[in-house]
Amino acid sequence: MAQLEIRIGNVTLKNPVILASGPAGYGAEYADFIGLEKLGAVVTKTISLNPKAGNSGRRLLETPSGLLNSVGLENVGADLFFGEKLPRLLELGAKPIVSLACEGREDYLKLLETVSGNDTVDMVELNLSCPNVDCGGMAVGTSPELLNWYVSSARQILPGRALLAKLTPNVGDIAGLAEVCQDAGADGVTAINTLLGMDIDPDTGKPIFDRVVAGLSGPAIMPVALRAVYEISSRVRIPVLGSGGITSVTDARKFLAAGAAGIQIGTAIFYDPGLPERIISAVTGAQQGKE
Ligand SMILES: Cc1cc2nc3c(=O)[nH]c(=O)nc-3n(C[C@H](O)[C@H](O)[C@H](O)COP(=O)(O)O)c2cc1C
Repeated sequence: MAQLEIRIGNVTLKNPVILASGPAGYGAEYADFIGLEKLGAVVTKTISLNPKAGNSGRRLLETPSGLLNSVGLENVGADLFFGEKLPRLLELGAKPIVSLACEGREDYLKLLETVSGNDTVDMVELNLSCPNVDCGGMAVGTSPELLNWYVSSARQILPGRALLAKLTPNVGDIAGLAEVCQDAGADGVTAINTLLGMDIDPDTGKPIFDRVVAGLSGPAIMPVALRAVYEISSRVRIPVLGSGGITSVTDARKFLAAGAAGIQIGTAIFYDPGLPERIISAVTGAQQGKE
């Protein structure tokens, strides 16, 4: 049997197959469809200090080879997350990675203090890359100075916890920004979040989404994600988790071959919730010939 465990900081995941933040909500929503306890980890929907209603207007649009979303970090906020959502996921036997919004500095520091006070969380992923919010998010992930501040603040306030930095592909040199995160104390990076896109209503000639731009995910972005993982993993020492357009066992293998220590599955679970378990079986060698 192949070596399955991966280590990020001082945390070991039992296998490299992880649910990406967002599509699976807080995890429990998928308990009837995916054996959550079999996964390496579940990255929970990004939370902010206070609840957020998300963006107005249309939020999802299918494209021929992907999905545009403008959810806008709708979430229940830290209190409800740590009080109800996270305990439920732990009850289900899943390994959580808690995704944190990187918005205004004051709220961000308070959010980190909240995490620091919760000893059931040993790994967090900083969402330095959401394209669908005005404050923080992708604006942080495109600036080396801001990236350094957000990652090093988390490193300082959460000294013993494993720290993942999730990067945006909407930059020139993603590997350079991964190095900034490594130098600021990240234990690993996740690449990539969604690519900026948009669509126009042909009848009105106006943008479909209220914020005009939206994030593109799904098969369309896999070549971009693969290139990012390849470049980053040749530049940093810390593990890289590949995210973007994985829809098959073969796709997962390509990410591992490109240098990823593990993979995250997002959009595909909307129509193929069996995929994560098929990838686990394939990479363990326990079950052959499904794909
Ligand atoms: C509906 C939807 C919501 C998402 N929400 C989040 C989120 O809250 N935090 C985050 O870091 N990424 C979020 N993402 C991005 C995914 O985690 C993932 O990085 C991206 O979609 C690329 O992977 P995929 O092509 O497998 O979906 C979201 C993606 C989708 C489609």
